[in-house]
Amino acid sequence: MSEITNKLKQHYEATFRENGPTPQGVDWGTDASRLALRYEKMLAVISQNSARAPSLLDVGCGFGGLLDYARLKGLELDYTGIDVAENMIQWACDTCPDAKFILGDIFEYEFDQCFDYVVCNGILTQKLDVSGSVMDQFAARLIKQMYELCNMGIAFNVMTTKVNFFSNNLYYRNPAELFAWCFSEITPFIRLDHAYPLYEYTLCLYREPVGNEGNQTCLAGGRK
Ligand SMILES: C[S@@+](CC[C@H](N)C(=O)[O-])C[C@H]1O[C@@H](n2cnc3c(N)ncnc32)[C@H](O)[C@@H]1O
Repeated sequence: MSEITNKLKQHYEATFRENGPTPQGVDWGTDASRLALRYEKMLAVISQNSARAPSLLDVGCGFGGLLDYARLKGLELDYTGIDVAENMIQWACDTCPDAKFILGDIFEYEFDQCFDYVVCNGILTQKLDVSGSVMDQFAARLIKQMYELCNMGIAFNVMTTKVNFFSNNLYYRNPAELFAWCFSEITPFIRLDHAYPLYEYTLCLYREPVGNEGNQTCLAGGRK
């Protein structure tokens, strides 16, 4: 396990020990509606035209809050969650025995399948005492790893630099710069949502064009 991952594991095991299965338990503040909005943004990666329950890997799933939210919304998912925090995975397995939760590190666990969608709500937001440049490299690794595991697309969030206050422990990244990096290194099929009222944004990266599945001829031949 890398030093950053180990720091995050220690940090989140402590927040969960202190606060249990709540937004504070995953260090997302006290406001449950904000966490719900983040889950909504993650699930927005799913293409409208999915005929069957899509398979979804939730990277850094915590206690499984995203799955609870999807079920509340009546969204059927073939869900798998993975997290390094032992106490959260234990809680998730105990309370949701019908879902698959893995205790593991996304950089080390060997999956025997890919997933339609891979999402990550919150690994690229907290940097603790790690430097910004080391976090940039960590982010590149995580995004590439998630993309390798997806058949259709991935979603993740990052703190925006368009703020008037910076907290030392959080990871901020200019959205235009990260968009450009994803565009040149990963895929041209990108959706950037910087329009919701939190100090962050969500990027969705796709293997193919989306949103107009029945009529894609206009894009044919134009891009690789
Ligand atoms: C901010 S919490 C978010 C939890 C959950 N996604 C939610 O929003 O309810 C980030 C989670 O990522 C987990 N994590 C950090 N690095 C990880 C890694 N390399 N592999 C798996 N999980 C990781 C932490 O243990 C922590 O539970």
